[in-house]
Amino acid sequence: MREYKAFINNEFIDNGEWLEIINPTTLKPAGKVTALKSEDINQAYQAARTAQTTWSALPLLKRIEYVNNFKKELLKNKEELATIMSEEVAKGYKEALGEVERTAEIIDYTIEEVKRLDPLAMTGEGMGATNKIGIFSRVPKGVVCAISPFNYPVNLAIAKIAPALLTGNTVVFKPATAGSLCGAFFAKLALAAAFPKGIFNVVTGRGREIGDLITANPEIDMISFTGSVGVGNQLRKNASTTDLVLELGGKDPALVLDNLQLEKYATEIIAGAFGYSGQRCTAIKRVLVSDAIADQLVPILKAKVEALTVGQPQDNANITPVIDEKSADFIQGLIDDAKKQGAKIICGDKRVKNLMWPTLVDGVSVKMRLAWEEPFGPVLPIIRVNSPAEMIKIANESNFGLQASVFCQDLSTAIVVAKQIQTGTVNINGRSQRGPDCFPFLGIKDSGEGVQGIREALLSMTRYQGIVINY
Ligand code: NAP
Ligand code: G3H
Repeated sequence: MREYKAFINNEFIDNGEWLEIINPTTLKPAGKVTALKSEDINQAYQAARTAQTTWSALPLLKRIEYVNNFKKELLKNKEELATIMSEEVAKGYKEALGEVERTAEIIDYTIEEVKRLDPLAMTGEGMGATNKIGIFSRVPKGVVCAISPFNYPVNLAIAKIAPALLTGNTVVFKPATAGSLCGAFFAKLALAAAFPKGIFNVVTGRGREIGDLITANPEIDMISFTGSVGVGNQLRKNASTTDLVLELGGKDPALVLDNLQLEKYATEIIAGAFGYSGQRCTAIKRVLVSDAIADQLVPILKAKVEALTVGQPQDNANITPVIDEKSADFIQGLIDDAKKQGAKIICGDKRVKNLMWPTLVDGVSVKMRLAWEEPFGPVLPIIRVNSPAEMIKIANESNFGLQASVFCQDLSTAIVVAKQIQTGTVNINGRSQRGPDCFPFLGIKDSGEGVQGIREALLSMTRYQGIVINY
C-alpha cells in the first residue's frame, strides 16, 4: 500500500495521523496520506511566505529552469503517476498517461508564455500629461493557495502550480482526497527538481475538515480553485478580500439544429458525454433536439453507447467505476427520478456498486432533475424541443454556464445561435472541452469566476506594478 506524506518547507510531515485513499475499482485502500492539522497548515503558509521574496527575486530564466526540471521529473515518472492515478481515481491507464503527457505540454507552453509577460510601457501624452512615462510590470501576487478536484489529479493541479511558480508566487497546494496520492507524489518530483525550500508545499487531509483552515489563512494572496459549485460558492462567501479564480461545475448542452451530419454529431456527443465516465466538468450533460431529428439521432447515439466498453481502468475500458458509491447513488437517483416521471431508458441503467453502465435517457422533460442537475457520471438525457428558440431558452435557464455545443452545417445560423447562449464558450460542430489548453477557459453563473487557460492563469496570478517617471 502506498504511504505518502504531506510536504512542507521541503520536509515530509509525519504527525502520526493518516487519511485512507480508497481505490474506486476494488473499493479497498489504495494508500494513505498524512491527515494534517491546523498547526501544520499554518507552518505551510509561513514557509510559503518566507520563501516568496527570494523566489520572486530570482531571474525568470532561473525559475524556468526549476520548473522545467520538475517537468523532466514528471515525464521520467509518468508511468508511475499514471498507475497511481488509475488506482486512486479509476481513470483508464492510457488516459491517465495521456493526462500526464498533456500536463508536460502545458508546462512547456506556460514556460514560453511567461517569457512574453512583457511590461506595458506608455506615455501620458494622450491625456495631456506630457512629462510622464509609465512602466507597468506584472509582479506576483504572493502566496497562491491551489486546490484541485479528483477528476484531473495531475493536470488541473499542475495547471495552477506551474504558472504560479513561474511568475514568482509560492504555492500551498491541496489535492482532492481522491487524488492525494498523485498530489503528494509531486513532492518527490519537487525534491528531485531541487526546488528551493518553501516554494511548493503539499497539504493533505479531508476538505470538509481542513478546508476552512486552508482557505482562510491570512497569508493567502490568491486562491485558484477547481471543484464543485457547493465548495466554490462557499469560497465566494468567505474569501471576500482574497483574489479568487473558480472553475466549477457544468451542465453543458448540445444543441442539434440539423440532420446533415448526424453520424459525426453523434460521435462528438458520445465522446463528449462519456469520456472518463462523464466525470468531466465539460462533459456534454444534455442534448436538446427537435422531435423529428431526435427520431433519427437517438438510434445512432444508442449504437455508439452500446459500443462503449465497461470495466476496469487497467484494461482501458471506456466506462470505469465512478469515484465512489455515494456518487453512484446520486447519479442513480437522477435516473430513477426521470424514469418515475415518464422518461424512457434507451440503454444502460445497470449498476454494480459504483460501476455504472452508460445510460441514454430519452423524453427527459424540464420537470425532471436530470434536465438541470450535474450527474458527473455516465448518463446522457435527451430533451425534445419544438424550436431553436426553445432550445436556447432551456440552454440558458440553467444555473450553470460553462460551455455548450451547437451542431449545424450552416455556419451563419450556428453563430447566431451561439451568440445567444449564456456560457463561457460555445463550440460549433464539436464537443465541449477545455482544450486546447492555450484557449481561455471560463465559466459564468454558477460555473465559475475568473479565467483559466495558460496565458490567463499567468495574468490572474500576477498584478500590475506601475513605476511612473516624471521628467
Ligand atoms: P469538490 O468536492 O468541490 O472538491 C474539490 C476540492 O475542494 C478538493 O480538493 C476538496 O478536497 C476540496 N474541498 C472540499 N471541501 C472544501 C472546503 N470546505 N474548503 C476548501 N476546499 C474544500 O469537487 P470534486 O468532487 O473533487 O470534483 C467534481 C466537481 O468539480 C464537479 O462539480 C465538476 O464539474 C467540478 N470540476 C470543474 C472543473 C472546471 O474546470 N470547471 C474541472 C474539474 C471539476 P476533498 O477531496 O478532501 O474534499
Ligand atoms: O473536468 C473539468 C476539466 O477542466 C475538463 O477538461 O475538457 O479537457 O476534459 P477537459
